Amino acid sequence: MSEPTQLFNVQIDGVWHQFKKGTRVIEACAQAGKFVPHYCYHPKLSSPGNCRMCLIEMGMPKLGPDRKPEIGADGKPVINWIPRAQISCAQDVAEGMGIRTDSPMVKECRNGVMEFLLINHPLDCPICDQAGECQLQEYSVEFGTAGSRFLEDKVKKPKRVELGPRVTLDDERCILCSRCIRFMREIAHDDVLGFVSRGSHTYLTAHPNRLLDSNYSLNTVDICPVGALTSTDFRFKMRVWFLKETKSICTSCATGCNTIIGTRQNQIFRQTPRENDAVNSAWMCDYGRLNFHSVNSTDRLKTPRVREGQGLVDTTWNKALVKSGEELKQFSKDEIAVIASGKMTNEELWLAKDLVASIGTSRHDIIPRTGEADDILMSTDRNPNILGAQLIGLTGEKPGLGLEDIAEGVRSGAIKAIVALGEDLTQFGLTADELRKLASLIVMDILPNDTTRSATVLLPSSAFSEKRGSMINIKGRLQRLNRATQPPGLARDDWEIIRDLIQQLTGSDGIYLIEDVFKQMAESISEMNALSLSRIGDKGVQLVEETEEAPAAV
Ligand code: SF4
Ligand code: FES
Repeated sequence: MSEPTQLFNVQIDGVWHQFKKGTRVIEACAQAGKFVPHYCYHPKLSSPGNCRMCLIEMGMPKLGPDRKPEIGADGKPVINWIPRAQISCAQDVAEGMGIRTDSPMVKECRNGVMEFLLINHPLDCPICDQAGECQLQEYSVEFGTAGSRFLEDKVKKPKRVELGPRVTLDDERCILCSRCIRFMREIAHDDVLGFVSRGSHTYLTAHPNRLLDSNYSLNTVDICPVGALTSTDFRFKMRVWFLKETKSICTSCATGCNTIIGTRQNQIFRQTPRENDAVNSAWMCDYGRLNFHSVNSTDRLKTPRVREGQGLVDTTWNKALVKSGEELKQFSKDEIAVIASGKMTNEELWLAKDLVASIGTSRHDIIPRTGEADDILMSTDRNPNILGAQLIGLTGEKPGLGLEDIAEGVRSGAIKAIVALGEDLTQFGLTADELRKLASLIVMDILPNDTTRSATVLLPSSAFSEKRGSMINIKGRLQRLNRATQPPGLARDDWEIIRDLIQQLTGSDGIYLIEDVFKQMAESISEMNALSLSRIGDKGVQLVEETEEAPAAV
């Protein structure tokens, strides 16, 4: 039997609470609904206690002559208050502890800390990219004073330092909290940052002959409480208060880090990690974070097109879909192959399976996509929904095993038509010339490539930020994508396109809501029986047991 959890009685601002042993004082205050301002403290990092912003007044039970706590008229221990402020981030609660978060002494000490922190801080706010999410600005209003007694010249420090390929440093704004240093050491396992010089002249830098070039470097920008570290990609592009925030997931590998997509006027400006301890803690990699520029590309496919002679010409959706149906009906089931994608949502894969059944072909698969894993978040599998494709049955235990047979079929002429859903077929050895020989090549995609250029019918579809749906990450967690932007031009949602292709082949009635696609899927897949898209929630649900390949939790 496990040991019962030890609980401590702690008084916070006059009210007694109970907290588990090991709870940090600042966390106990938060649990009691008392916010304590802080800079260097971060719940996922160690606590060096160096900014002094989290000051509180603290006391321990007063002991009587018998060395036992004195009990007051309220039946609770009498507290002996320590006559100076203490930091709350670097110590745990103890039995009988008293805490005051807003006493006159605490307020005066916080004022003093704010004044010190601002002594050398430049008055950059109007042009600082952190404005709108700067804790220095916010605490200055809430816990600081309007004036400064500092008459001397401010210390000058390096500005606009390219700390690495993706992070820019303005040392004058740094308040030396060391969050970035600790993140790189404790989470990214790349101890590349440090402080040099002494006193007011201390500044942050990378170690000699090193750059902050880790694939996790942009997390330092997220946790820097001031405008010292900024994303080179995002800085000066958009004021953060103009951004619309949409909760979604990253689709750059099978980990499926939870994200917030920041958009304005139908354009993505940034992606930042969203905390989910079951998936990505509070972090994400730079590769996934910046992997959205293709969505904003001016090359996006915007209009359905059909082949006429040597070229593709714009057409209407109706004509493109009718032509797709007519082309596919010309061939026997074994002459048609369907290539789906591990980047598709479950709902799209479910309908793709229906499309395969409507055609009657056994020639279908998805294209494996792998890369190097790290021990932090990145997964070997770069398909974000490989488990979904396997669970739904679009591919087998080893994705891609059917591709060689399909490529051979194209070369020998046994396969005359292919439906390519979101994949460039030259990735598994077919050449553009070989694709051009197909009598029918129906392609659904978002950007031009050799396959779209060889299509007989081209169906423009939606990128990850333009659709709703679900995916299963490598740990077996079912998670939700949400729509942050609209697809460009006449491009449509992928599931609707596949539904319309099925209708062309079978004449069946359509499904009109993605919720109904999920419902149909959930009725057939036992693991999803009790679920709906809305029940998945913002943090997902564990659907199948974690696989061994799951990246280490951080
Ligand atoms: Fe803290 Fe930001 Fe300075 Fe790093 S750059 S020590 S995160 S204030
Ligand atoms: Fe406690 Fe910085 S948050 S000392």
